[in-house]
Amino acid sequence: MALRNLRLEGDEILRKKSRIIKNINDRIKILSEDMIETMNENDGIGLAAPQVGVLKRLIVVDIEENPMVMINPEILEKSGEQIINEGCLSVPNKNGDVKRPEQLKVIYTDLDGNSHTIKTEGLLSVVISHEVDHLNGVLFIDKVIKETEVKEGVVKS
Ligand code: NI
Repeated sequence: MALRNLRLEGDEILRKKSRIIKNINDRIKILSEDMIETMNENDGIGLAAPQVGVLKRLIVVDIEENPMVMINPEILEKSGEQIINEGCLSVPNKNGDVKRPEQLKVIYTDLDGNSHTIKTEGLLSVVISHEVDHLNGVLFIDKVIKETEVKEGVVKS
């Protein structure tokens, strides 16, 4: 495993749309391992491939016991709303309140090529929504309803 360099706001790659992954090969497996290591090293709870300069639809999420790798994640349904103070590993100098769905229904493929449809709520919905935005070139600062001071303990992904 290896750490990858984080791309920061202003880097045009963060504004591009990522491509669907058709083959889950060794490069994808290594990328996902590196992304988990990079996320953990930077105290993040999620990371999307464009944040390490790769325009592929791959995200990692780490809020439960084990990090999840989600390939080609797609939000099928959303409901409810929640407002949470967010940060982003690609926008280290800003925090802000963002309105996100409370519940999601998400389909994704795992590293073994198996498809899963899951229902999420709370923080997991926030992170998946934030990461899928990254795959579409959207940053949380585009959606912020109130900028807040930058402080420790704010979730970053
Ligand atoms: Ni982010």
